Amino acid sequence: MKTVEAEIGIKKDNRKAVVDMLKQLLADEFILYTKYRNAHWNIEGHDFHTKHVFFEEEYGKLEVTVDEVAERIRMLGFYSPGSLQQFLELSQLKENGPDQNDSISFMKVLLEDHQDIITFIRTSIGENAEAHNDEGTADFITGILQQHEEMAWMLRASVKSFK
Ligand SMILES: [Fe+2]
Repeated sequence: MKTVEAEIGIKKDNRKAVVDMLKQLLADEFILYTKYRNAHWNIEGHDFHTKHVFFEEEYGKLEVTVDEVAERIRMLGFYSPGSLQQFLELSQLKENGPDQNDSISFMKVLLEDHQDIITFIRTSIGENAEAHNDEGTADFITGILQQHEEMAWMLRASVKSFK
């Protein structure tokens, strides 16, 4: 049976370039999701309960994003990466954890990851819209960018020291 192409007004080469970007984004989101899970499970300290709940709320947001990015790849006519090995190969993030299990140490690592993702998305928005003629993906990742900016702000505000 002949493959049915996604004929949505974007050349295949452009769709492929957009999908390559989305594959890295998916991998980054999945690695960060896993790092939040680790923080949720292994957090220790006087603020255990508050932060245990906070990390769970945050990985819940990333769980939704992971699904949406993978499904956008499918909408553009390509298959999504779906294995942990692929995610590790595609992601710019490292699976490093903090040296200690206190909330501040976990949050500092997570904040750096958010900021790396924000920077990556920001450079990709214009490219997707202008070079690859995909306004839909530019708009889609703009929403994801805004979510990461909000999540990063909450971490940044939490790790601030007044001493
Ligand atoms: Fe839990």
